[in-house]
Amino acid sequence: MAPKHLSAVLLAAGAIILALAVPLLAGDPDMLQDFCVADYGSLKGPLRVNGFPCKRPENVTADDFFSNVLSLPGNTGNPVGSAVTAANVEKVPGLNTLGMSMSRVDYAPWGVNPPHTHPRATEIIFVLEGSLDVAFVTTGGNLYAHTVCKGELFVFPRGLVHFQRNNGGAPAVAISAFNSQLPGTQSLAVAMFGSSPPMPTDVLARALQIDGGVVETIKSKFTLKY
Ligand code: GLV
Ligand code: MN
Repeated sequence: MAPKHLSAVLLAAGAIILALAVPLLAGDPDMLQDFCVADYGSLKGPLRVNGFPCKRPENVTADDFFSNVLSLPGNTGNPVGSAVTAANVEKVPGLNTLGMSMSRVDYAPWGVNPPHTHPRATEIIFVLEGSLDVAFVTTGGNLYAHTVCKGELFVFPRGLVHFQRNNGGAPAVAISAFNSQLPGTQSLAVAMFGSSPPMPTDVLARALQIDGGVVETIKSKFTLKY
């Protein structure tokens, strides 16, 4: 093939690969209308879609886009000393198809938001009160850690394991934003020790190189999911 033709073919192939790759790199799919307020009621029917079906426009009100769900602190009186309150499409129907959501995280003194991932979103956390030690770990095992004080922010890339710890003796509060209407949260501890039905003890013992008795002890702490 002549070099001129070869470079044209390579250029075309590159363009096709790029076009196919874009949807893979995107977060939630783009909207095709002004809004598609989630019709929670329709979930009881046989229809299943990726997201929620739209409410009939004549039934949509401003309330569908409003929520005070983040106005009150979450209850941090639990073993980890933190509480995440989500404002996602399950709480705010107007978020359906808009590709974004938020959460409020309250921390007791020295409280921890345990290691977890969001399979469908990158998270950006903004500290409203107090000061946090935060970190995420890459798929290659590198830990990126920072202290984030009141008025500062930090980014947790999509799908990567991350945590926060209140590094002070007073309560702390943060707001997180996500580029998904429903980012999903998977706690590492709950996934390994609190699944239903449980992960086999011998698998965990082998994976973590610990005794089966230790696995059973840890499992007993995760019968109640937080
Ligand atoms: C914090 O990491 C959160 O997911 O809200
Ligand atoms: Mn998170």
